[in-house]
Amino acid sequence: MSVDIQSPWSIGPVEIPTRIVLAPMAGVSVQAFRRQGRRFGAGLVCSEMVSCAGLSHGDERTLGYLRIGRDETPLAVQIFGSEPCVMAEAARMVEDAGADMVDINFGCPVRKVTKTGAGATLLEDPGRACAIVEAVAAAVSVPVTVKMRRGLADASRAALEVGPRLVTAGAASLTLHPRSAKQMYTGTADHSLTRELVRLVDVPVVASGDVTSRERAEELLEETGCAAVMVGRAAQGNPWAIGEISGRREAEPTREEVIAELILFVRATVRELGEQRATGFLKKFYGWYLGRGRFPKPFKQELVQLGTIREVEDRLLAAAPGAADVLAHLEGELPGEDDVLLDLPISIYGGG
Ligand SMILES: Cc1cc2nc3c(=O)[nH]c(=O)nc-3n(C[C@H](O)[C@H](O)[C@H](O)COP(=O)(O)O)c2cc1C
Repeated sequence: MSVDIQSPWSIGPVEIPTRIVLAPMAGVSVQAFRRQGRRFGAGLVCSEMVSCAGLSHGDERTLGYLRIGRDETPLAVQIFGSEPCVMAEAARMVEDAGADMVDINFGCPVRKVTKTGAGATLLEDPGRACAIVEAVAAAVSVPVTVKMRRGLADASRAALEVGPRLVTAGAASLTLHPRSAKQMYTGTADHSLTRELVRLVDVPVVASGDVTSRERAEELLEETGCAAVMVGRAAQGNPWAIGEISGRREAEPTREEVIAELILFVRATVRELGEQRATGFLKKFYGWYLGRGRFPKPFKQELVQLGTIREVEDRLLAAAPGAADVLAHLEGELPGEDDVLLDLPISIYGGG
């Protein structure tokens, strides 16, 4: 039976308007990215993974990941760590910050994370993984979800063994990216495991990995029985992929649309991170937006060398003058800055 991508579903009491989830991506999933993904049809968006130790120590940059816009709902904030009590404390901060869900990362393959016993390592330490989910679920009243890889080694089936136990421990939904940690991003995601996981648990399963088109999304929904698909790399500098998957529009934007969306993204990111941090952060996005055969390669090189955001904007507009009108139209449709909460909730600082 085929599922309509535009139909709602729920995780616990949280209703999600479409079957598209925007993937959590470290160094990518800022508010500007999440808000754009939602505008193009994502039903659920997620923060990048946030260190529970960083939250617990009150690290200012880590706390910054808990900035949640007033219009950002439903939103999951993802945390990672290996100590159940520290994860529980972090989850309470996430709930206080206004997230609709707490997502737990059992998938990160990066050594800096796995060597601390967090991320994908926990797939091979089911006792600790369950203790973390139990502690987090007991600490918050919002749904707790888990995102996993298939396991550490190639061909591992660890996710199928630990998945049902995580549900018993309190997970209200599971997302599976069926590559091993060792694979990183090589090879392909083996969604036959997603189908197996769906059969083993009675909570919604989200399929992550290599979803790049509506055709693939529909195939996965049908073949695996997953409740939703997650889109990651395909949406980097390319919200039109989300638009195409959601069925709202064609995959390829005009040059003017590309430049207008990029400038909108640049402005929102500068508001969010400040110009200095945004300048470095944005560099990878220039290639993502302007690549895919949309603009000649040297154009990106030119932008990366410019000293100020103002110069970047001027250069972008010079490349597609008609973009100014598209940008004005887009800005006219967006909520005013006052409707977007960028400050941290006071409770996070421990009071007035
Ligand atoms: C740059 C980058 C950063 C990522 N950061 C996270 C993260 O913070 N948390 C997480 O659970 N997954 C993270 N992922 C994995 C994605 O959420 C997703 O599962 C994976 O990219 C496969 O989906 P895709 O083929 O649609 O990209 C990251 C992936 C990329 C490419």
